[in-house]
Amino acid sequence: MARADIEWTDDFLIGIAELDHEHRSLVADINRLHRALRDHDGREKIQQTLGSILSRMQAHFALEESVMKEHAYPHYREHKAEHEALLDTVTGFIVRFEAEPGGGFSKALEETLDEWIVSHILTSDRKMSLMLKG
Ligand SMILES: [Fe+2]
Repeated sequence: MARADIEWTDDFLIGIAELDHEHRSLVADINRLHRALRDHDGREKIQQTLGSILSRMQAHFALEESVMKEHAYPHYREHKAEHEALLDTVTGFIVRFEAEPGGGFSKALEETLDEWIVSHILTSDRKMSLMLKG
């Protein structure tokens, strides 16, 4: 059974406009993946969506890391390590999915992305924004 869309709510707002904007786009991208898998879209379209999620994540992390650095955020290393671990996980799933589209990896990938985006925003980024805004 495919996963339901993530519903965007104001609870996701962390109060740093540029990051809020990107979080919204990431949620929209992840929902696009859910829809593509639900609708059994072709492999090419799913791969395009995955590629767009991955590049948006990379750009988002780079921006977040520069914001943290700029403010000498004390948990920078920890937060950056979280970003790197997640990129590794998602890249690994994408590689496996591309090698074997019917291999059941898409479900694990969807679950990982859903759990990640929610906890990334509500936990790590919220903590960061509270400290940065002091
Ligand atoms: Fe973020």
